[in-house]
Amino acid sequence: MTETRSVVIELLSQLGSSKEAREYLNRFSSQEKTEFAVIKVGGGVLRDQLDELAWALTFLHRVGLYPIVLHGAGPQLSEALEQSQVDAPIIDGLRKTTPEAMAVIRPILYEQNLRLVDELEERGVRARSVVHGVFESEVIDAEKFGLVGTVGKVHRGPLQSAIRSGALPIVACLGETTSGQALNVNADMAAAALVDAIQPYKIVLLTPTGGLLDSEGRIISAISIASDYERLMESEWVHSGMRLKLQQIKAMLDRLPGSSSISITSASHLTKELFTHTGAGTLVRLGERFDHCPDAAAHQLTEVQPLIESCFGKKLRTPLAGLRKAYCITAQSRRAAAIVLEGNRGVAYLDKFAVTPQARGEGLGAALWNELRQTFPALYWRSRQDNPINGWYQRQATASLRYPPWKIFAYGVDDFDTLGHLVRDARARDVAWQENAL
Ligand code: ARG
Repeated sequence: MTETRSVVIELLSQLGSSKEAREYLNRFSSQEKTEFAVIKVGGGVLRDQLDELAWALTFLHRVGLYPIVLHGAGPQLSEALEQSQVDAPIIDGLRKTTPEAMAVIRPILYEQNLRLVDELEERGVRARSVVHGVFESEVIDAEKFGLVGTVGKVHRGPLQSAIRSGALPIVACLGETTSGQALNVNADMAAAALVDAIQPYKIVLLTPTGGLLDSEGRIISAISIASDYERLMESEWVHSGMRLKLQQIKAMLDRLPGSSSISITSASHLTKELFTHTGAGTLVRLGERFDHCPDAAAHQLTEVQPLIESCFGKKLRTPLAGLRKAYCITAQSRRAAAIVLEGNRGVAYLDKFAVTPQARGEGLGAALWNELRQTFPALYWRSRQDNPINGWYQRQATASLRYPPWKIFAYGVDDFDTLGHLVRDARARDVAWQENAL
């Protein structure tokens, strides 16, 4: 196993750095084996990306991680029902399931389940088909929905037994009543119940698009419920499908420990999403609150100094404690902080902005920036020209000017005269860092 592990780390490091990969691998492996992850796979992914999915799961299995895989079969069911001319209309998001419809649905679910199991077994990955015995279910409304069930109790036994014996549990969205009547359960409801019962560290939703999309159709990298949820729910471009997804995601996270997170990604990006800081997809976390100290005391500044030094990999020339009238914003986890000083012409000057690399992947940097924007209507700052973060700064700024070795940025300032003063001021400020790296 240790040999495979090092080969895998080597491989993973091609996605990011080997340090990163090792860090995540250790973190994921330190969870209770059954509590690493629940991966929800839509029917569309089974149909179109089975190979990529099997590859990604094989990878996880090889490094000793055992996600619980839950799948639906939406498109396959629609197709089969249509072909057999069985009517199963979707009512309030649920598929009305008459006994005739169930006769079509059940075999299709088994078949789809076994397709994935077979694909894994062929690659030498032990996988166990779990199509019964997990979701204890009751009819919701026989009249309206037929054989559609709620998910009451989740029995973890079959999942634990699979993992204990070294197999990945591949779970179908089928429930049954205590007397054994099979019921059709909605995949989102099944996933929510499973997550509740398992309390996994990671939840992964695999979709064909590979993430949640913004108004321009680009994947949103990270969402913090604490700082982004309300804004998103109020945005016009967030259509009803995405709104519902966000509500479901929030509901899941609300019932999990703060360390858990949900990743929405595609089968082919799963490995990169899990083993790098930046990921590939959308990471949703509950997020955290920020503490504001408008006139930070010496001990508060001393407290953030190590964070700032470690993020920059350099030592400060003079202790932060000496700063006067510093406005300090710190994330509650103490993994991100910003220090704002009095600037020129009544505009605030951003003196330090530091986020640990891991927290950056979680979107904490963007969340901190949001706090800054809400606190300071106008701001200017400078950065070394070779700072890799400049592209990002550029997108946050409304003005940027190059004065080697600096790049000066500003937002909220639109007259040239003021801008000129700010630039002069920024250029004239002392260099804060000692030259030698930590
Ligand atoms: N690898 C980490 C995780 O899975 C961070 C992923 C960051 N992903 C993102 N889309 N920003 O928890």
